[in-house]
Amino acid sequence: MAQHKVMGICAGMHGGNSEIALKAALEVLRDKGAECELINLFDYNILPCTGCEGCTMQMGDIAQHPEKEYKGCVLKDKDDVDRLITEMHTCNGVLIAVPTYDLTPSSLYTRFAQRFLAYELSFLLQIGVVKENPHTVAGLISVGGSMHDWQTFSLESLQATMFTMSLQVVDRYMVQRSARPGSILTFPEQVERCRQMGEHIWEAMETPVDQRHWLGDPDDGVCPNCHSSLVYPGDKHWDGVEFPWECAVCGAGGDLVVDEKTGRPKLKIAENGLIRDRNDDKARAEHLNEIIKTRIEFYQKKDNFKDDFEHYRKLEFPTV
Ligand SMILES: Cc1cc2nc3c(=O)[nH]c(=O)nc-3n(C[C@H](O)[C@H](O)[C@H](O)COP(=O)(O)O)c2cc1C
Repeated sequence: MAQHKVMGICAGMHGGNSEIALKAALEVLRDKGAECELINLFDYNILPCTGCEGCTMQMGDIAQHPEKEYKGCVLKDKDDVDRLITEMHTCNGVLIAVPTYDLTPSSLYTRFAQRFLAYELSFLLQIGVVKENPHTVAGLISVGGSMHDWQTFSLESLQATMFTMSLQVVDRYMVQRSARPGSILTFPEQVERCRQMGEHIWEAMETPVDQRHWLGDPDDGVCPNCHSSLVYPGDKHWDGVEFPWECAVCGAGGDLVVDEKTGRPKLKIAENGLIRDRNDDKARAEHLNEIIKTRIEFYQKKDNFKDDFEHYRKLEFPTV
């Protein structure tokens, strides 16, 4: 990849705060010489994932029979998503700015991101559909009218959409108290922080892949692995693995302790605490084993529940 190429993805209103935050970061990157593009998801036809899992069924099938052709998503020719993701695969930087609705990223973004499953990068590289690994780094911006207390899932939910495409998050930032279009401009320090994200994306792209690291606020979040603020008491996994506390985003496991430096709660990662790190392609492959096992168990039991299946299939209620 000769020149750095960055895609800005916005799910906010035209002329709104997310777009301004994104443009502030992109402007820095453009001035440094990166090729920048900005897509506002409102301008594209994005159908919701049908839930068919035709993509992962094909992936499983191709693992057994490599001669078979991967046809991709069933919606491939029906909307704009294939075109957008194919373009994303040629970018080594991605900036994503999304408004917070009801504490979470707006559904326009999640509708787009939940189509990533059919484009699992490690699979597409393996079968040669994507020729060169773009080793894409990502910067995430959530934008809300309130502060952290009303944006509690926004950055973490954005982070959760990064794994299938192997996007490495190097910075994240929450724009706060920006409720009406242009509000962000009344907080110059917030615009400056978005510009700094542009600097961070540049720095990461300039760094050799194996030396890239977190460039965001060092004390951000509770999880030292992915910087998420959401850590919960762990429950047993499908194969018995269990941690006292787990990061809701990356799956790092360990104990919740008080950080000596900041006096705030921090996840102290256990010795084996990264065996389920969702950022790591190999660790994430364990989840593939879980999916395969769950499917096999279902197919083994399926016939015993034929009548029940038929009962619910035929049971109808009036719609609206
Ligand atoms: C349906 C809806 C729900 C919202 N919920 C939240 C919320 O839970 N927390 C918050 O901080 N802001 C919330 N907001 C405010 C928006 O995040 C804010 O206006 C933002 O600047 C919009 O981004 P945009 O200008 O890029 O479109 C909500 C706005 C809408 C329209």
